[in-house]
Amino acid sequence: MALVPMRVLLDAAAKGTYAVGAYNVNNMEQIQAIMAAARETRSPVIIQASRGALKYTNFTYLRHLMLAAVEENPDIPVTMHLDHGNSLETCKMAIGLGFTSVMIDGSLKEDSKTPTTFNENLEVTRSVVDYAHPLGVSVEAELGTLGGIEDGVGSGTVHLTDPDQAVEFVKLANVDALAVAIGTSHGAYKFKEEPRLALELVAEINSRIPDTALVMHGSSSVPQELVDMVNRYGGRMPNARGVPISAIQSVIPHGVRKVNVDTDGRLVVTAAIRKVFAETPEKFDPRDYLGPARTALTVLVAQKMRDFGTAGHAGEIKQKSLGDMVEFYRKKGII
Ligand code: G3H
Ligand code: 13P
Ligand code: ZN
Repeated sequence: MALVPMRVLLDAAAKGTYAVGAYNVNNMEQIQAIMAAARETRSPVIIQASRGALKYTNFTYLRHLMLAAVEENPDIPVTMHLDHGNSLETCKMAIGLGFTSVMIDGSLKEDSKTPTTFNENLEVTRSVVDYAHPLGVSVEAELGTLGGIEDGVGSGTVHLTDPDQAVEFVKLANVDALAVAIGTSHGAYKFKEEPRLALELVAEINSRIPDTALVMHGSSSVPQELVDMVNRYGGRMPNARGVPISAIQSVIPHGVRKVNVDTDGRLVVTAAIRKVFAETPEKFDPRDYLGPARTALTVLVAQKMRDFGTAGHAGEIKQKSLGDMVEFYRKKGII
């Protein structure tokens, strides 16, 4: 089975009332760790690459690493997803590389900084849907903007998703998944004090568009013990704060089917590497620190798979090819 369009995973998650984690990847160790966690917990999984990740790896390397994950794990349903595509061109490029799902983040302009109007967002999103669906590729869009800025991505200002606009947007754009802004942000510094999230907005949006999978971005929990570990071994991450797992779990019954996690992976890898450097400064073989980092990431992701309810569902996913999805969209009258 292995490589599947994201819509297949999200529909199965809706049926089973759980969420699938979407984990950002940039290198071999991250991909191996996530796949090891998926194997251990028997979970379907979304591995996603940002534009920054694709640039870092020069595209081809990441594509082959993802395909290696698929080949090595025939029993695990895997979606290759583009995270925060900024234009139709970027989405076309990812689809050309073999991604089975793309996100077009039309909430921001192509510079990934300036918020767009509703109509600008709709226009670019529709252009991606019109290109992707006839190829069977799934599409995620975003309405509203997250807080925070990561690697220059993000407006830095929160605009919560308006439920009326969500209804209109989904009706006109026919996306498979919609990322909603409820007060989360990317990165390790999500809240100055206690987490403040508009969780009730998720239930309201879900009640209005129950057939659309909702997506939570900026969903790393930034576990205090990892922040402490980074700081103990020479790092400097004051006041890092994330989204409590309990908050994520509370909205999974209300239509959240995809939960994006990048920062926690970065954190656990950094903590593990810093520990090796601090405790055994004589070591200089990258395997001596990348190996422990990979193991630590496996443990973290396996726990998320249990927390999001993904664990145990790999075997239930029915394989569908891109061709099957073309038929699916045709029957729905979307293409
Ligand atoms: O959406 C942001 C993700 O964490 C990706 O981050 O652009 O630094 O790869 P990145
Ligand atoms: P975090 O920074 O909270 O991990 O969010 C990642 C994300 O939303 C990727 O699109
Ligand atoms: Zn995101």
